[in-house]
Amino acid sequence: MSLPKRVVLVGPMGAGKSTIGRMLAKELGYRFLDSDRIIEERCGANIPWIFDVEGEDGFRARETAMLDELSREDNTVLATGGGAVMRQENHPILKRDAMVIYLKTSIEQQVERTRKDRNRPLLQNDDPEAVLRRLFSIRDPLYSSLADIIMYTDRKSPRLVVRQLVNRLNPKTPRHKRQIRKEGRNHV
Ligand code: S3P
Repeated sequence: MSLPKRVVLVGPMGAGKSTIGRMLAKELGYRFLDSDRIIEERCGANIPWIFDVEGEDGFRARETAMLDELSREDNTVLATGGGAVMRQENHPILKRDAMVIYLKTSIEQQVERTRKDRNRPLLQNDDPEAVLRRLFSIRDPLYSSLADIIMYTDRKSPRLVVRQLVNRLNPKTPRHKRQIRKEGRNHV
């Protein structure tokens, strides 16, 4: 079984998409792309500013354009924003030649991991937990239906999640062979 051209990570805020994505890319010898960070770089502004000035719709339009662009890049691991599944038109984009992985995480973990964050406009209110619950009930079926792999991340270190993902993505290759191939790729 060969590696997919592209690995796409979906899941809620606080699932660990960026941390796990960066580590997974390194492990596979792939390039790591983070849709939210690249939107911010291109815009020269952070996500709260984009939400403030252009509204959530403005952000979603940028997100769709960015996903469409990034999902044409081969040998990549792409971390998406938690709301990337909300637009129907994004679904074929996310699936394009990709192995889609849903990083599934309990509400408790999401709350814990986003507690101090000021860069997520949807959670800047009195009851972020209620927001996370509401979003989960809408989005969990979407993440699940798009996913080729559902990986639970609760009470697992990012390192363990990455090890389990590498095994799922390429189960037939012994670890030392993966290492040789990875080093080969890095030197191309
Ligand atoms: C959002 C999640 C965020 C970011 C934006 C909206 C969402 O990304 O795209 O704040 O709708 O869930 P992360 O999932 O990386 O936090």
